[in-house]
Amino acid sequence: MYKSIYAVLFLFVSGKARELTDAEKSRLPRMYELDEYKSCLAEVDGLYCFGTIHLTPTERPHDIYELMEEHSSNPYYFNRTLIRRGWCLSARDAEKSNAANIFENRAKNWAKTLRMNAKLHRLQHCRTYHETKDDEDAIEPEQKLFVKILLAILAMNIVGTVYDHATRDSSRRNKLLLAWSMSANWNKLTAIRTTGDPRLPTFEAVQGFRILCLLFVFYAHVLVLHYLFFVANPEALEQLTVSTKGIILSNGSNLVHMFLILTSYMTTYNLLLYSEKKPLELRMLPLCIYKRIIRITPVYALVMGYGATWYARTRTGPMTDYAIKGYSATCVKKFWTHIFYLNNVINKEETCLMPSWYLAVDMHLYILTCLLTLLLWRYRQAKRLYTHLFFGFLFVNFLVCYIYEYKPLVFLSKAEAISTLFEKLPSFWHYYISTWGALPSCFAGLYFGHLQYDLLKKDNTIFTNKALVYLHNISFPLTILWAAVTGTYTHSISSRLSITVFMVVDKIVFIFLSSILVLGLINIDGPQRRFFAWSGWQALGRMSLCVMLCHWCVGCIIAAKPYVYEISDIEMTVDWIATVVLSYAIALPVTVLVEYPFQKFFETII
Ligand SMILES: *[C@@H]1O[C@H](CO)[C@@H](O)[C@H](O)[C@H]1NC(C)=O
Repeated sequence: MYKSIYAVLFLFVSGKARELTDAEKSRLPRMYELDEYKSCLAEVDGLYCFGTIHLTPTERPHDIYELMEEHSSNPYYFNRTLIRRGWCLSARDAEKSNAANIFENRAKNWAKTLRMNAKLHRLQHCRTYHETKDDEDAIEPEQKLFVKILLAILAMNIVGTVYDHATRDSSRRNKLLLAWSMSANWNKLTAIRTTGDPRLPTFEAVQGFRILCLLFVFYAHVLVLHYLFFVANPEALEQLTVSTKGIILSNGSNLVHMFLILTSYMTTYNLLLYSEKKPLELRMLPLCIYKRIIRITPVYALVMGYGATWYARTRTGPMTDYAIKGYSATCVKKFWTHIFYLNNVINKEETCLMPSWYLAVDMHLYILTCLLTLLLWRYRQAKRLYTHLFFGFLFVNFLVCYIYEYKPLVFLSKAEAISTLFEKLPSFWHYYISTWGALPSCFAGLYFGHLQYDLLKKDNTIFTNKALVYLHNISFPLTILWAAVTGTYTHSISSRLSITVFMVVDKIVFIFLSSILVLGLINIDGPQRRFFAWSGWQALGRMSLCVMLCHWCVGCIIAAKPYVYEISDIEMTVDWIATVVLSYAIALPVTVLVEYPFQKFFETII
């Protein structure tokens, strides 16, 4: 009694639960356990199920249960009363439809030894002996189709390459076939573009910088992926959510807005440059959209196709059943919403390859940017209008988030939520991945695109301003510092108003810092630009789309080890490096054999 009053008081005073000692933590029931998988399913009666069990005590006081409760009262930690198991159950065929009951009974018997009650919280997946046998022989028609498409693409490439070499000397060559020439596409990928005058704006450094950002994103994603699987030391994952590293990574998710700003920035700027050759008209909109779609959709469709067919068969084992099967099924279900870039609108709460929401948002903002630029390119007050729209939509963000209690990602990155990939969290599905939430970034990009174009017309003196150059030079570390400091200080705030205010201020500061960073990379001939404009980055930079699309599958397959494993910084780093290297290794042929030829082919058709 005294103990619990004291605990409540303690909570009240410090706002935080007590950390359990290592000895106490070791007394908690294991969060994850797996039975032998292969031998279980080798028996005719074999039935292997994954489930989550909710434990409650049969009697009080119950010292272990109290430890579980105490530990779980930290909202960033796992809820330790929920236990995940992969169990080998055996059942005759007639009973197999009753797997949930069989699983729960086993859970009850097990929990009795701990003086606890068990209730089935969720049955994730079950596999029977027969399914395993069927799986081994049968290849589904979709899987066959996928292989056929791959072979057809390969054949086209071979034909195109042979044709290219055979007709080198002739003057009239078929452009549609030439699009498939591997040697031409390889040259396009590896070409080194050099900038002439260092005073002129150049975009190579942005490509190089994008690689660095992608590496950062991949690292964050590799860490996230480990929450989906069975680990022997969940304490490490819990610690990560409250550590500075974890906070920087989750608060750094703002980075996605920098990519979005870049999209609309480059689009406007290029359109404005084009307007010098030919006046812009609204009629050009379909062509603008077509150009982007033919670049992105073929690769995107290929990766989604893989997700829907072979993804769950690439690496077999218990963890594939547990964590990949379900997402792969969503790929089948949502395939067409992805192809039409509506995956963050239709069935948005179901995810297949998590990062693909970005492509949908990016496409929506791209279309809006084209539309506005084609309409308003002559309008003198455009920059002012975009500034107003920027602040206007920030305010809309603020209001909607305040009303619906949406929170930024740094408040959502709690162990339990990450382990289900933010399932049923409105903040994530209705705000974070939404297009309207990203509108301020779009208007910022439009503004900067116009600014860049104006600078080209007048002389480029802003970027020789000493203070600005200085700010640019420190903007990168400053961005990280900002994410770390604000993340740490706001991690424990809970009032709705302060969270929403934080979100808006955070967005403004982040957009400000990253714009100075990016505009500087383009306009200021400094050490950062020289580093990121190094020609060695160029080919890697051109693979960014493919790498971005591949890395999630690659990371998942690497993390789906068929046993319960310990994680540590080393483990994560190794998985990260493996993910990066493999993703680039896959992206190389995909870029040369799929992205480039399809793009050229469809460009020629028009
Ligand atoms: C843990 O999960 C159970 C089942 O959903 C729930 O009843 C309980 O309130 C949760 N505990 C905490 C501390 O969130």
